Amino acid sequence: MAILLPGGAGYIGSHTAIELLEAGKEIVIIDNFSNSNPRVLESIKKITGKDFKFYEIDYMHKEKLQKVFEENTIESVINFAGFKAVGESVQKPIEYYRNNISGALVLLDTMRKYGCKKFIFSSSATVYGEPERIPLTEDCKTGGTTNPYGTTKLFIEQILKDIYTSDNTWDICILRYFNPVGAHKSGRIGEEPQGIPNNLMPYIVRVASGQLKELSIFGDDYDTPDGTGVRDYIHVVDLAKGHLKALEKINKEGKGLYIYNLGTGTGYSVLDMVKAFEKTTGKKVNYKIAPRRLGDIATCYADPKKAKEELGWEATKTLEDMCQDSWNYMANQEYLT
Ligand code: UD1
Repeated sequence: MAILLPGGAGYIGSHTAIELLEAGKEIVIIDNFSNSNPRVLESIKKITGKDFKFYEIDYMHKEKLQKVFEENTIESVINFAGFKAVGESVQKPIEYYRNNISGALVLLDTMRKYGCKKFIFSSSATVYGEPERIPLTEDCKTGGTTNPYGTTKLFIEQILKDIYTSDNTWDICILRYFNPVGAHKSGRIGEEPQGIPNNLMPYIVRVASGQLKELSIFGDDYDTPDGTGVRDYIHVVDLAKGHLKALEKINKEGKGLYIYNLGTGTGYSVLDMVKAFEKTTGKKVNYKIAPRRLGDIATCYADPKKAKEELGWEATKTLEDMCQDSWNYMANQEYLT
């Protein structure tokens, strides 16, 4: 009995694969390396000392996906496959809707065909749009997403709710990630954005390493304590552990559709992040204040109470861990190449 991880070579997928293997689970990874590196698979094996099956396929390819279900007994699926660059999604909406939504439909249809109905989905705090209130609870209104990437998350959540309504023998868990940062403590796997990063932490590490000249802080006139945007940064290993708890939940309780925020419940501003990074790593992060970025909101952080009460999960890593581990991964790149 194996857990299938589409997109398991990616940033969050690979960290979750490690946690699953270390918990003694059997996994099967499928990935087409559209935004990941084959080297990651070797790193997962080295870190855990465990082996797993891998298929280099696109999860949208129905026949190839069916073969995976034919050759393995898949008991549950955690779907990490999906495009995730906000800016790119505005330029390529068709690609985003096709890959994320059609891909999810092919996957869900195939699961149904093979009688596999346990599904965990990587959603995002982006589904809340402009927050109804802070901290965000799972029952806050969703919608008003500002880009196709965010809209794919919103639509897939709706699709999952409709599937559950039509057939309540599914076990579905929707995990709304806040802002994942950091890397595995080994320094062997981490986030590898292609080209110039859009997200804050990958940008900070590249400024600290000298690859990029300076960070542009997008706006210092928000209604926040220091005027810069506030977010709920969560260590990727904490996030990965949340998937194990979600899996336990659907295996134990069964038959339900559950939604959880995976965040720390603490908001940090862009300036807080810069200062914490400098203090933790001793590296300087040059920055300038720039205009606001279109589509950004002032403040976004989770109320993580529901996940704590119902999953027994809470984030344990500190802001220092997030900064140090992000930096270690960057500093380790030379050794990895
Ligand atoms: C973004 C996406 C969100 C996605 C998440 C993945 C938007 C509107 N939202 O969240 O859908 O799930 O990434 O992690 O794009 N910042 C700077 N300078 C930079 C980069 C960022 O000042 O060069 C600021 C931003 O204005 C924001 C904060 O840093 O206040 C975090 O930004 P980012 O890491 O891009 O994440 P989000 O925008 O919160």
